[in-house]
Amino acid sequence: MLNIFKRIHHRNRAYSADVFNENYYIEQVRRYAIGRSTSDTGYYHGIGHWDRVAENAEKLKDDGVDIIVVKVFAYIHDVERINENRDSGHGERAAQLVDEIRTTVLGFMSDQQIDLLKEACALHTDVRSTGNQTIDTCFDADRLDLGRVGITPDPNRMATNNGKRIAEMLNDGISYNKNHISYKWHPQKNGE
Ligand SMILES: [Fe+2]
Ligand SMILES: [Fe+2]
Repeated sequence: MLNIFKRIHHRNRAYSADVFNENYYIEQVRRYAIGRSTSDTGYYHGIGHWDRVAENAEKLKDDGVDIIVVKVFAYIHDVERINENRDSGHGERAAQLVDEIRTTVLGFMSDQQIDLLKEACALHTDVRSTGNQTIDTCFDADRLDLGRVGITPDPNRMATNNGKRIAEMLNDGISYNKNHISYKWHPQKNGE
């Protein structure tokens, strides 16, 4: 009985240490991204958006999803944008940046995590889903913040079951309130 208690106690301590390290490393990535971003990518694709994508990662979390990859994606995927409009190469440039900082800022990530992160960054502007739970969760965490540019996420364009479910709820809310929230229908389409 005592041994069982010791094992559980030990496991909880290890878990706490993991959570502490995870938050510490994500915060380092966050600070790095804030320092690297340009003044031209503030409102729609800057830190406010990145923090919301990281929050969405928690909402979308599911079995088989590497939450570290999704949270790092939140702070890296748009950091190489050079403007707030259509910047078609920014995903590829973010993937290149991941290679540049993989042994420094991202030194806490495994090779497998780095590969997933690079793929998610490179594809996030043009690909709807990949079939990989972690990469698809990156896409949906980003898409769920489309409300900031006046677009309600389309449930049929989400890549994960959780993303689809949340998008359906958002659409229910919007249709109920649509006469009162006109900015939701703004035609700008420079999101993701
Ligand atoms: Fe993007
Ligand atoms: Fe984004």
